[in-house]
Amino acid sequence: MNSNPKTDSPGEGLDIGALLKQHEGRNYDLHTAHVNPANVRTLKTIGFDRCYVRASGPYLWDVRGTKYLDMLAGYGVFGLGRNHPEVRRVLKDFLELDYPSLVKLEAPLLCGLLAQELKKRMPTPLDMVFFTNSGTEGIETALKYARCATRRPAILYCDKAFHGLTYGALSINGDESFRSGFEPFLSDCRKIPFNDLEALERELHRGDVAAFVVEPIQGKGVNIPSPGYLREAAKLCHQHGALYVDDEVQTGMGRTGRFLAIEHDGDVDADIVVLSKTLSGGFVPVGAVLCKQWIHDKVFSSMNRSVVHSSTFSQGSFAMAAGLAAMDVLDRHRLVEQADSMGRLLAEGLRALVPRFEFLKEIRARGLMVGIEFGAPRSLGLKAAWTMAHTLDKSLFPQAAIIPLLDKHHIITQVAGHHIDVIKLIPPLVISAEDVKWFLTAFEDVLVQLHSFPGPAWDVIMNIGKMALTSRAR
Ligand SMILES: Cc1ncc(COP(=O)(O)O)c(C=O)c1O
Repeated sequence: MNSNPKTDSPGEGLDIGALLKQHEGRNYDLHTAHVNPANVRTLKTIGFDRCYVRASGPYLWDVRGTKYLDMLAGYGVFGLGRNHPEVRRVLKDFLELDYPSLVKLEAPLLCGLLAQELKKRMPTPLDMVFFTNSGTEGIETALKYARCATRRPAILYCDKAFHGLTYGALSINGDESFRSGFEPFLSDCRKIPFNDLEALERELHRGDVAAFVVEPIQGKGVNIPSPGYLREAAKLCHQHGALYVDDEVQTGMGRTGRFLAIEHDGDVDADIVVLSKTLSGGFVPVGAVLCKQWIHDKVFSSMNRSVVHSSTFSQGSFAMAAGLAAMDVLDRHRLVEQADSMGRLLAEGLRALVPRFEFLKEIRARGLMVGIEFGAPRSLGLKAAWTMAHTLDKSLFPQAAIIPLLDKHHIITQVAGHHIDVIKLIPPLVISAEDVKWFLTAFEDVLVQLHSFPGPAWDVIMNIGKMALTSRAR
């Protein structure tokens, strides 16, 4: 770097642009050496080892100047699109102010203002806001609040749930592939099927449940519950003295065409709502936990306990400024409405493909949270291809879609979980009708290729499957 140890002068300081230029293209070597070689191997195997050097709105550009459409949005963080100019302007202005942050023995103004803004957007009243640095930390907060407020031990969670990967959140993770190797977990966490009110009531009946923690749409698989499920689940919780915790880390902040996804189910009386991802426009890690007054009063029950739950970086001014700017952009640009209209366009286009392509089973969509589920085809030749892919590796088939989407059409998408045949689209809420068309045209082409077996698309997939087999055997 630029400092000069031979003189007293500290030198000119880091030139970040020059540093990036100097090392351009070394991403995967550096990660192999210092960060996560297994992840590098995975990315190389599926051809996702690109070096992105510029980002704006729903687009990324790689080192070769190729433009990509980002239908993944950093796992949903970039709801406003990347590098939103208005959020960036606010953050630059803020940095120029020499404003204090994290004094700690004070009450930061921006935190109070952001809490007030968040409360205004809740569909049913919530009173107090705790700020976190991530989604999983929001879930930890909810678990602590629930046990403390109810003085009960048990937490209910759903099969296939994803709430983060710290210990509390992992203890209520419904996917074995995330849990394996990290046992033992928090005690008294009990799994129930998603979208099953009878199972919920059976567990609540035991009288020991502090909270039911649930995503309004499950991110893994993009599972949308039946109408009324969330509303009734909250009612059942209250009848049995338990809290209803609404995990809106991925679905919240407008993604589904409402500020919160529970709004699709009428008045869902949530006791705790957890937000993160889009909350800072993607610039600063931040999350928020909103709760009812009585819960807050139980946790922070005296002056002695006034900081009984806290975190060093919570309420940081930069994060709060980013949150206020993100909220302002969301409102003025009517991005929640845009998520609704672009989501409808995307879902309609995808549904029109279903009757034409045997591998396409179902499109599940709420706003810009879309799951595309593949299923076993009817015709014999394609059935053989389907079986072969699943025999090689249960997670292989959807790769056959996401690889050409990136390779040929320059669109970034993801598989929606382990061992499922679903791909997930969670693009920035700022995508346009042309972007939707870009995706639909590309996806149609990918489906045409996939329905041609044997064919080049299948050669790629079989090679990857064989590589996965070899690496498991090692
Ligand atoms: C529903 C849900 N809850 C919690 C989390 C955890 O958030 P984080 O990765 O910020 O810890 C995620 C992350 O994807 C999520 O989708």
